[in-house]
Amino acid sequence: MNTTKRYTVTSALPYANGALHLGHLAGAYLPADIFVRYLRLLGKDVVWVCGSDEHGAAITIRAKKEGISPRAIIDKYHELNKGSFERLGISFDIYHRTSADLHHETAQDFFKHLDAKGGEFEEKTNEQYYDEEYNQFLADRYITGTCPKCAHTEAYGDQCENCGSDLSPTELINPKSTLSGKTPILKETTHWYFKLDKHAAWLQEWIENGQVEGKEHHNPKAWKNHVLGQCLSWLSDLRPRAITRDLDWGIPVPAKGADGKVLYVWFDAPIGYISATKQWAIDNNKNWEDYWKSEDAELIHFIGKDNIVFHCIVFPAMLKAHGDYVLPTNVPANQFLNFEGRKFSKSKGWGIEMHQYLEEFKDFPNKEDALRYALIRNMPESKDADFKWDEFVEFHDNELVANIGNFINRVVVLTNKYYEGIVPEAINNESAASELASVHTIITELCQEIEKYNFRNAIQKLMELSSVGNTYLQDVSPWKIWKEDPECQAVKNCLHNCIQIVGFLSVLCEPFIPFSSDKIRALLNLPKVNSGNLASLLDLFKAQKSLIPAGHKIGDPTLLFAKIHDRKDHSRLELIEKQKADLQAILDAEVPPHEPVKDTTTYDDFVKLDIRTGTIVEAEKVKKTDKLLKLTVDVGFEKRTIVSGIAKHYKPEDLVGQEVVLLVNLAPRKLRGVESQGMILTAENTKGELCLISPKQVFGNGFVVK
Ligand code: MF3
Ligand code: ZN
Repeated sequence: MNTTKRYTVTSALPYANGALHLGHLAGAYLPADIFVRYLRLLGKDVVWVCGSDEHGAAITIRAKKEGISPRAIIDKYHELNKGSFERLGISFDIYHRTSADLHHETAQDFFKHLDAKGGEFEEKTNEQYYDEEYNQFLADRYITGTCPKCAHTEAYGDQCENCGSDLSPTELINPKSTLSGKTPILKETTHWYFKLDKHAAWLQEWIENGQVEGKEHHNPKAWKNHVLGQCLSWLSDLRPRAITRDLDWGIPVPAKGADGKVLYVWFDAPIGYISATKQWAIDNNKNWEDYWKSEDAELIHFIGKDNIVFHCIVFPAMLKAHGDYVLPTNVPANQFLNFEGRKFSKSKGWGIEMHQYLEEFKDFPNKEDALRYALIRNMPESKDADFKWDEFVEFHDNELVANIGNFINRVVVLTNKYYEGIVPEAINNESAASELASVHTIITELCQEIEKYNFRNAIQKLMELSSVGNTYLQDVSPWKIWKEDPECQAVKNCLHNCIQIVGFLSVLCEPFIPFSSDKIRALLNLPKVNSGNLASLLDLFKAQKSLIPAGHKIGDPTLLFAKIHDRKDHSRLELIEKQKADLQAILDAEVPPHEPVKDTTTYDDFVKLDIRTGTIVEAEKVKKTDKLLKLTVDVGFEKRTIVSGIAKHYKPEDLVGQEVVLLVNLAPRKLRGVESQGMILTAENTKGELCLISPKQVFGNGFVVK
């Protein structure tokens, strides 16, 4: 990384119409926090912006349903989300809002600039869906219907979440308004479209080769595969996109003939990154353009995978069309986090929101880092991941407590015990050369992993670092030597070196578990880590100097983490058990998936069916099909040939001797040339698994089922 660079880091602006859950946190905020904290440790010039996305139909609709103003909703959730982020150590430089005047102006200016430039927008009048009951045009998201490409019945007007197709609402089969539930009518309206298609050629060049106008812009191999994959499929079909909407909530469109129209939320929201930077620059006496319009600025967007097209295609095209702006050098989008095997769902109560976690775990020691650690260990970086409470416990007890916490605690306790907390001097330290070399390698690798956005690997390196410390301490076992010889130099060397490793840990853990970093610094009696700390650490390492010199007095031991599986104190385990029990209660209350009950039938119809017991006496496969078996069934008074579609579930040799129940008066039918004289009864579950119905108590063959 070159030193004159400036980093402009963004995280997707969350909609201010609901509380964010752990999936959001792991998707776009925690990874960015690690990355930005790391850059700050290196002393880089970085600004990380985020804020509430406060426009869009979702907010007006929620307001309508609850009978309150959109303002009331955004104020509530802006504060809630901002507060939860802060409490979890998510260290944005600014958490702005798109309802701010500065943002409205910035977005309007952006629109006006493109409009005045000519060639970027076109106005088109066409028919759009309108809900007559609610008297409003329907935003794409508020129309559902059947996908014309895959027949999924709950496709949205802009996208089918089943097959991923980009749709327009009029393509939906059997459209319904999600407001009134009624079929909307078509009504004429005029909108501004951004001619995305005209940017196709350079976008392709930029995404595929990392080049802009023949000049190298970024290394395309540094982008995640799943991000590139999505981009390439979008590139094959770029169309003009409407960037205005008929809504009464949003940023008024600054153009003639646009009364009652607002900018489409996905047009204004990414501009929110720019207006947030402007506000931050005002507050901090900086020049915002250095971060957006300078060749030295490196723009990086952290998002979830559902936002890829907007950040890799639409917003870059807007920036390029505007001119002067830099383009993102990477968009390290994450995939989704599920929760105990299912998608997070507010309506079903499945999952846990950030503020809920903070509330329910309020007495859990170091709850913020316990959560951050579990989410990073299992971050959905390249594929979807699943949050599980059992894993949370494992990571906590086996890694945070048993590895890092235990090492640091032993070192601090021993140093206090042997040397009254004064770091001993190391003399002839060569015997630890191999440990120190591997510490150096691990630190280098840890940094590289962060720079490649591989945060899962990076946090493993952190654990490796403390493992090296633990093994070293165990190998030397100073407690064995000290008793005999309290002045022994080998013990002094060992603790001197271990203190250094604790010092490295205090710096290197900061991007991941910053609350613990503060605690470790306090244990070491050092100030909190700050900008440039890692850079100076790496320099010291090169110069082979100690990070924490001999003679420094460290602090008193305190515990960093408290084990969940504690023999005396069960409170933390009970807290986890409660989380699991709450989920189980949701599962128990669920009506299992089932086929609907058929129309009522009569007794007279029922008795027409002649159902009897029987025993399979022969079974073989029917040729040229993998579904059918030819069975011979003894029904007491005779033997029947029955062709049954159970070949995928039973092997012929396992069936001979099997008692079954069968319909004996079904009209005979030829299947693959074999006449079937009846039907064996089976039961099938919703997964299509099936089993034979067999009488529990057997009287013999040919008994009538009544
Ligand atoms: N509000 C959007 C979402 O939650 C993200 C907006 S990102 C921005 O999916 F770029 F538009 F800001
Ligand atoms: Zn579809």
